[in-house]
Amino acid sequence: MKSLLSTVVTSLLFWANPATACTGFAGLHDHFLPINGTLAVENQIPLNAAGYGVSDFGHGAYMITDGAYQTFVLVSTAGVVVVDAPPTTGHKLQWAIGNLTATPVRWFIYSHSHSDHAGGAYLFANQSHPKVTTISHENTASQLATARDPHRPVPKVTFKDKYTLVAGNQTLELFFPGIGHDLGNIIIYAPKQKVLMMVDQIYAGWVPFWNLAASIYVPGWIEAHDQLLGYDFDVYLGGHMGGPANRTAVKVQREYVHDLYDNCADALIKSGSPENPTVDIAAISKTVLTNNPYNIWAQFAVYLDAVADLCYNKTSDKWLGKLAAQDIFGFSHARTMVSSLRLDYDVLGPNDVQP
Ligand SMILES: *[C@@H]1O[C@H](CO)[C@@H](O)[C@H](O)[C@H]1NC(C)=O
Ligand SMILES: *[C@@H]1O[C@H](CO)[C@@H](O)[C@H](O)[C@H]1NC(C)=O
Ligand SMILES: *[C@@H]1O[C@H](CO)[C@@H](O)[C@H](O)[C@H]1NC(C)=O
Ligand SMILES: *[C@@H]1O[C@H](CO)[C@@H](O)[C@H](O)[C@H]1NC(C)=O
Ligand SMILES: *[C@@H]1O[C@H](CO)[C@@H](O)[C@H](O)[C@H]1NC(C)=O
Ligand SMILES: *[C@@H]1O[C@H](CO)[C@@H](O)[C@H](O)[C@H]1NC(C)=O
Ligand SMILES: [Zn+2]
Repeated sequence: MKSLLSTVVTSLLFWANPATACTGFAGLHDHFLPINGTLAVENQIPLNAAGYGVSDFGHGAYMITDGAYQTFVLVSTAGVVVVDAPPTTGHKLQWAIGNLTATPVRWFIYSHSHSDHAGGAYLFANQSHPKVTTISHENTASQLATARDPHRPVPKVTFKDKYTLVAGNQTLELFFPGIGHDLGNIIIYAPKQKVLMMVDQIYAGWVPFWNLAASIYVPGWIEAHDQLLGYDFDVYLGGHMGGPANRTAVKVQREYVHDLYDNCADALIKSGSPENPTVDIAAISKTVLTNNPYNIWAQFAVYLDAVADLCYNKTSDKWLGKLAAQDIFGFSHARTMVSSLRLDYDVLGPNDVQP
């Protein structure tokens, strides 16, 4: 928890840098909007004295959490299947599984490459566990081969489009929806239990993590909302934030992200006109270049943040207090969306070919 906090504080310090000219972010202080009364709090499940909580979905399917991260566990007649091993859960995950079943872990699946979800993989997949089969998307395997991280061993089994794991009496379907949050982030589906998992995609009750979940390809990450809704599921696991979620959480976040898209596109278009002085590119450029001759990056930085701020303001009018932490990460989402609109979706506003 300490390291998570210090990471957050480091990020806040980074944003507080006046050079970013950011007016939308709440600032570095310790009084953010209360999140009680939102699903972010209601969805939490109690942790035991050892520091972990377990949700039982029936038929051998469980979610184990340390309050901030989630692991999916499937107990089969042929051994246990584990999806992800967040380092913060660490040994608590082994205790939780040990208390559920005496069956050994036989399969370890990486949802994606990121170490905050996979940095405990070595606890299940190492020389002392030669019978554990490790599985991931082929892109994840390449990333892990490059990383040479002893905590995240390179998986033995990889796939390109889809993979069905039959483990004793259990079935798990793995599907690659395309590049989005990461190069190889997969959808994990247990059809019998109707449990659907896609990590760092939906944050039930919350706005997504910083910069649209730190996604490497925003259009793919946006598209995944619709791909998830194509499944028949009762339980959704996003890898974060305590308790399990459901279909409603996917729909709500989809609405948030589409609002953000519309508001940021609108702000980009408005920035081409003097009728909107706070974002008017001509007025901003004139001022910044007068104060900072030839400094084109300064001009861009102030202009893009002004556009993001207008988008953040409009999005907040609807979502502040509805999804937790819009005041904390909402501006970063507007900034990331403005960038993606310009570069991926060709919404260039005043920087497009002019009529
Ligand atoms: C949430 O907590 C704040 C104090 O942080 C309190 O003023 C407010 O009444 C609480 N709201 C709900 C819905 O519990
Ligand atoms: C599979 O077997 C495990 C272990 O015996 C059991 O807990 C689980 O309910 C079974 N699941 C299904 C889908 O039959
Ligand atoms: C069960 O959980 C406790 C902590 O709650 C842990 O100390 C113990 O080792 C676990 N048992 C097994 C068999 O893993
Ligand atoms: C192998 O896994 C065990 C837990 O099962 C762990 O205690 C040990 O540190 C791991 N060894 C290595 C070399 O990673
Ligand atoms: C989904 O979860 C929310 C929050 O926990 C709950 O209010 C709602 O009733 C659930 N919807 C369904 C269809 O289960
Ligand atoms: C958005 O901007 C308007 C005009 O400056 C302001 O009145 C309003 O409070 C802002 N909304 C939010 C949610 O900050
Ligand atoms: Zn991730």
